[in-house]
Amino acid sequence: MKTVAITGAPAITLRDMTREGLKSLQDQGVKYVALDDEAREILRSWSARPAPAAQPASDSELSTPEQKIAYLRERAQNWPAARRLGTLREKMVFSVGDVHARLVLVGEAPGYDEERLGEPFVGKAGQKLNEILRAMGLRREQIYITNICKFRPSMGDNQGTANRAPTPEEIAACLPIVQAELRAIRPACIVCLGATAAHGLLGGEGSVGSLRGVWHRLADHLPVRVTYHPSYLLRNESLSARRAVWEDMLAVMEMLELPISEKQRGYFSPR
Ligand code: URA
Repeated sequence: MKTVAITGAPAITLRDMTREGLKSLQDQGVKYVALDDEAREILRSWSARPAPAAQPASDSELSTPEQKIAYLRERAQNWPAARRLGTLREKMVFSVGDVHARLVLVGEAPGYDEERLGEPFVGKAGQKLNEILRAMGLRREQIYITNICKFRPSMGDNQGTANRAPTPEEIAACLPIVQAELRAIRPACIVCLGATAAHGLLGGEGSVGSLRGVWHRLADHLPVRVTYHPSYLLRNESLSARRAVWEDMLAVMEMLELPISEKQRGYFSPR
């Protein structure tokens, strides 16, 4: 492939320049471009090269979690597997938090508020999640929060504020990104918020009720706890639901060797 060398500047390929040029046209709203025979031939030969890796290819070449996560954020913007489906909305909502965190929370997918603000868990479910973290003595900034699907699932033109859970296909499309995030962060423990995240990450089926209360292992070693999604607690404020989530969080705190006071141990216990 031809390279254009400019003294003192990094070499860029014709392919890079073409990609950037097309992206810039796309950003300007251009949907179609006319190709002459030569251009078509060149693009065809490029697309005959090995398919873009199913995994974000060179994350292993980057050394720090900061670099790896920045790279993944960039790759996720136009993640081809997700775009190809045509069932996810345009805006990518990446994860948030400390890339050195020992605790990673995995949610479902961005909703209306998250898409608008570009950050996971910033709507009502996010407020509930913040409450749970506060009760654990943690702040959002100290942990890493991601979603198993990085795009708000589409419900057509008149979607408004409505949200839906991602399908297994939508989850499968985004899963390589989540797996690469976990490889970059190497947390001590993961919590899946809700059944959708649990099924996506761990595989298998089953209700949260049947999956919670025990440690699962991801890749045979990484401890994963499944608990109810915060939005479940918004719908079900019963003491037993709140206690169930809290027991899962106590187990997580023990796993992370966080201090637990007597008062914390007793939260939501029936008197
Ligand atoms: N619910 C989720 O699962 N993720 C979000 O980011 C927001 C709500």
